[in-house]
Amino acid sequence: MPIPPSNTPRLGLGLAALGRPGYINLGHGEDLENKTVDAMRQHAWTVLDAAWAAGLRSFDAARSYGRAEEFLGGWLRERGHTATVGSKWGYTYVADWRTDADTHEVKSHDLDTLDRQWPETLASLGRRPDLYLIHSATLATGVLEDRRVLARLAELGAVGLRVGLSTSGPGQADTLRRALAVTLDGVNPFSAVQATWNLLEPSAGAALAEAHAAGWTVVVKEAVANGRLTGRGQIPPALARVCRELNASPDAVALAAALAQPWADVVLSGATTVEQLESNLRALELKSDFSALADLSESPGDYWQTRAEMAWN
Ligand SMILES: NC(=O)c1ccc[n+]([C@@H]2O[C@H](COP(=O)([O-])OP(=O)(O)OC[C@H]3O[C@@H](n4cnc5c(N)ncnc54)[C@H](OP(=O)(O)O)[C@@H]3O)[C@@H](O)[C@H]2O)c1
Repeated sequence: MPIPPSNTPRLGLGLAALGRPGYINLGHGEDLENKTVDAMRQHAWTVLDAAWAAGLRSFDAARSYGRAEEFLGGWLRERGHTATVGSKWGYTYVADWRTDADTHEVKSHDLDTLDRQWPETLASLGRRPDLYLIHSATLATGVLEDRRVLARLAELGAVGLRVGLSTSGPGQADTLRRALAVTLDGVNPFSAVQATWNLLEPSAGAALAEAHAAGWTVVVKEAVANGRLTGRGQIPPALARVCRELNASPDAVALAAALAQPWADVVLSGATTVEQLESNLRALELKSDFSALADLSESPGDYWQTRAEMAWN
């Protein structure tokens, strides 16, 4: 995995909102005027160029983000860039480029899905990813107990990419601690995790610190809570106060709070537009201890219930 130079920003860019016309983030539908494949490819490249110009060198995609892998792979080749690329298996995109589909993605963490999606990712990206993650692993899917899947992932890990998992739901910490304890012939095949951490849902923090201490790569996703910690959301008074004190937008403060976590190797921006990205980038300049925001946290159950109710648009 290419090690970015030490002065590389720890901010990365995720393509969940750039690789397909529909997504759950607040007000997403308004951001993308023209949703044809070519228009969205051009739009994604414009945001990627802005991210590159700002020094970002970590990019995250997934098999289920529509054409995100294809857009990212094509852009890297066209620009001749070398970057750290992550992708994920386990969700299949089924929305057929529609925003009003009844179902947008289907989850399956079995060996057939892995064996189908790995070559698809290689073909779409046009290269091997540096990080390859189980998409939204939970204890309920049983994937962490599936020896055949673990053996296949260990084979992939043996050729130099970091395999691991992304977690979702109120049980992220339990899922991660189970993954930290997985062994195959005495060795843990995993060495990377991507998890939701933000001011409303910080519950996975301690487990992420354990993963970092174990030498895993730790990536933060959903740092602005799918738009709730941006100007589009209802901003809690304590956050509004810190925004005034730092003369910064809520998204920048929320991302800075994630960047302040010593165990976070990369924090993903999920910006859908160049304007949003420029606002997010301000996080790199903000220095504070953010302790005044510790009381913003919701119960994980409430947080994930609210997220589950967010409409695809
Ligand atoms: N299970 C998984 O593995 C998983 C799950 C989720 C995300 N991820 C990864 O993490 C990345 C980021 O997560 P995310 O996009 O889901 O959540 P997020 O980063 O919490 O939310 C990003 C969204 O917030 C809104 N936003 C950001 N900056 C804004 C600003 N300045 N003003 C107004 N709105 C702003 C945009 O929503 P609009 O689109 O509405 O404008 C943007 O798409 C994804 O791209 C993906 O790579 C992985």
